[in-house]
Amino acid sequence: MAASKSQWLTFSITLALASTAISFYLSRRKTKSKSSGEVNKKIHELEASLKSALEKCAAERQGRIRAQQALRKSLSGPTSVNLELNSYPMAPIAIVHSCFSTRNGTPRQPLLVPLARASLIFDSSRVPPASLEGLEGYSHCWIIYVFHLNTDLEKLWKPSSQSKFKAKVRVPRLKGGKMGVFATRSPHRPCPIGLTVAKVEAIRGHILLLSGVDLVDGTPVLDVKPYLPYCDSILGATVPDWVKEDRLLTVASVNFSEGFSSSLADCWTMAEKKSLYASPSEFEILIRQVLSWDIRSISQRSRPHDFPVHTETGSTVDDASTLEHYQEDEAFENGFSAVIYHLILEGLDVSYRIDSKCNVIVENITVSSYTQTLS
Ligand SMILES: *[C@@H]1O[C@H](CO)[C@@H](O)[C@H](O)[C@H]1NC(C)=O
Ligand SMILES: *[C@@H]1O[C@H](CO)[C@@H](O)[C@H](O)[C@H]1NC(C)=O
Repeated sequence: MAASKSQWLTFSITLALASTAISFYLSRRKTKSKSSGEVNKKIHELEASLKSALEKCAAERQGRIRAQQALRKSLSGPTSVNLELNSYPMAPIAIVHSCFSTRNGTPRQPLLVPLARASLIFDSSRVPPASLEGLEGYSHCWIIYVFHLNTDLEKLWKPSSQSKFKAKVRVPRLKGGKMGVFATRSPHRPCPIGLTVAKVEAIRGHILLLSGVDLVDGTPVLDVKPYLPYCDSILGATVPDWVKEDRLLTVASVNFSEGFSSSLADCWTMAEKKSLYASPSEFEILIRQVLSWDIRSISQRSRPHDFPVHTETGSTVDDASTLEHYQEDEAFENGFSAVIYHLILEGLDVSYRIDSKCNVIVENITVSSYTQTLS
């Protein structure tokens, strides 16, 4: 709309200038001309033709608008009065290949883990690499994606009368209290679309390399837009108190077990080819950065460590806690039972313990039996 308006303006201005130029030219000729009556006639003729050209142009524009309206109307179908019968055929333009193999351990916010890398692999049959030209000029970009791991996605294909989404979601920070879905970032929304921001690292053909991501491997991407600090960052923006209470917890320390390095070296030969990381030591820094935040859910955190913890699968809770943590408890020789947590990065299973003072010990790393989108 804006484009056609500006084209229209340009066109009008051009015509107006042309008309002025002609008038000027004719007025200069006037002195030499046989009769000024003839010139005036010519001017009137030109003015009339300009007027009709402008009218024709306006009519064409009206016609275009009417055609667009008709198209929209026909798309929505003759029987549909309700908005809900409309759908828009949007398909992912790219798939995320990220270091986070599962939701467990995927950061709760973007930019928390600087070394969290992902490549967005664009479908080059639909989106030519030239579409990415110029994006490297921005430090950050927005990513609009689909919550493809929602267990209730099949609802989307049901008639809306049968696919009622929950208007309110449980918010862990409110200790079971509920909040309207649009006051949260819950993945369980009428349109399961997520929004995040990431650092633009590089563009290689049809691949966009990012860091600081909070995206799980395999995430379908709907759109990418540049981050504009002058309008996307709002000074003095406020949030409700219950959101302020969701402090992200940092752990006291992260230490690695003695045998860890050699275990990582063993795994690395398998992981190396597909890795977003250059070396085992860089990968170790990633592990350290991910585990420097307490990535356990609130319920896992609040339970005593010698108590078996069960995963809350499929529960409708806020974004921050739907990350499914799977764990098993293991008995130790001294009789003290401690929970072993697992974090899966690039298909490697990192096992760790955390004590009551939030010191993390990374126990071991093995090739995970978990095989999702890594093939
Ligand atoms: C972990 O390492 C830090 C030094 O980085 C050390 O001060 C701390 O005592 C260690 N914690 C444990 C539990 O070993
Ligand atoms: C680490 O895992 C590997 C492979 O499962 C195993 O052989 C090794 O004993 C483990 N190391 C430790 C310290 O548990």
